[in-house]
Amino acid sequence: MFRKYLVLISVAVIAAMLFVACGAPSPAAAPAEEPAAEEAAPAEEAAPAEEATPAEEAAPAEEAAGEVVTLNFLSSPPGPEGEFTKQQVEQWNAENPDIQVNFINGPQSATERYGLYLQTFQAQSADIDLMQIDVIWPGDLAEHLVDLNEYGAADVVGSHFPAIVENNTVDGALVGLPWFTDGGLLYYRTDLLDKYGYEGPPTTWAELTEMAQTIQDGEREEGNQDFWGFVWQGKAYEGLTCDALEWIYSSGGGSIISPDKTITIDNEAAAAALDMAAGWVGTISPPGVTGFQEEESRAVWQGGNAAFMRNWPYAYSLGQDEESAIAGLFDVTSLPGAEAGQSAATLGGWQLAVSKYSPNPEAAAKFALWIGSEEQQKARALNISLLPTIPALYEDAEIAEVVPFMPNLLPVFTNAVARPSTASAPQYNEVSTTFFSNVSDVLTGKQSGEDAVINISLELEDMTGFATE
Ligand code: GLC
Repeated sequence: MFRKYLVLISVAVIAAMLFVACGAPSPAAAPAEEPAAEEAAPAEEAAPAEEATPAEEAAPAEEAAGEVVTLNFLSSPPGPEGEFTKQQVEQWNAENPDIQVNFINGPQSATERYGLYLQTFQAQSADIDLMQIDVIWPGDLAEHLVDLNEYGAADVVGSHFPAIVENNTVDGALVGLPWFTDGGLLYYRTDLLDKYGYEGPPTTWAELTEMAQTIQDGEREEGNQDFWGFVWQGKAYEGLTCDALEWIYSSGGGSIISPDKTITIDNEAAAAALDMAAGWVGTISPPGVTGFQEEESRAVWQGGNAAFMRNWPYAYSLGQDEESAIAGLFDVTSLPGAEAGQSAATLGGWQLAVSKYSPNPEAAAKFALWIGSEEQQKARALNISLLPTIPALYEDAEIAEVVPFMPNLLPVFTNAVARPSTASAPQYNEVSTTFFSNVSDVLTGKQSGEDAVINISLELEDMTGFATE
């Protein structure tokens, strides 16, 4: 009953998204009308796809075979990343009158996005042709996705990081074309480190805690009551799984479930790491951090109100933007560890995937290969600091100049710690939900780190049937 309700909602949500995205159901054929879409997405409607194809509109796609394929691409969330992806889609549309792509914003939260995809797939909906999938989802979603190797990807995957290609290959099928990779980073204010006499960023969590407190006290004394030491992602969602895995792994507490399918979370180092993070809430981190996703952390940081931030690379370009209060005043490095050198970055990243229920998998794969190409990945690295999945781009001179942290921190990204998605597929989403819910209870003072690791371990045993270490 509840599920049915969810499916209905999801179908309605997708229908609404499509309406907003398309304006008209078949854009190439009906460029003139610009219907009621304004209400829903006012800013974007000013210059949507209609303008991107001025030349073609006169003698549209009827020319050649006469067939125009229209694809729906459920993609980046609203905001600068979405804006840039939309521009890329508009470029494609201008160059490919026979395959027109509707860009649709997806939800900001990976957890919400997963729910939406699952409902779309369960309904075997043909409404979405392709979508971006998280690095943790190939195993969970494989049954709904086409093998891109059958549509031309086999010729290009050799140029991508082999570990990502392997991650995206399920029972021999390539269900996701690598689009960008991700790794958790420590952002720090170079001006404030100087001001308070620190020679460099912290290498241990204890140092970070001490430095954050000192800078916060000093800045507040000077009158900025909104200033905080450290912001991160503390809401109960997939992002918290990423942050908590970093605290735990960098403390020697393992990766929840090991690649050989043993549950490893019930250990003292993991419990202590969770208690450490709970100790930050309301001291060096705002009490509201237990409701923060990436963008809430970035808002505090980019407003100039935090000394340190844990976030993904996307926040780099935005922070260096002319309009940003902290442009030129920060740098990024690897996250701290319990001991110096024990740093861990959670492996993130997104892939392009084509739905099995799409009536046009060939056209969808063609577009995916284009927007995932070296040239387009380079554009995304330069403009929105998303990490390429093609190693050659880390040797590109322009990238080294505009986003120097990319080549500099390459070892951090290539050694990033994977969440246990391959070991637990197709149940990873449930594993992660159990994990982040219990971690959230530690952050909000509802249970101790020790109780949390015991509870997680027991729940995972039940769920997966795996044994505890
Ligand atoms: C980033 C990562 C993704 C992760 C998500 C969590 O988008 O690329 O892998 O699941 O953050 O919020």
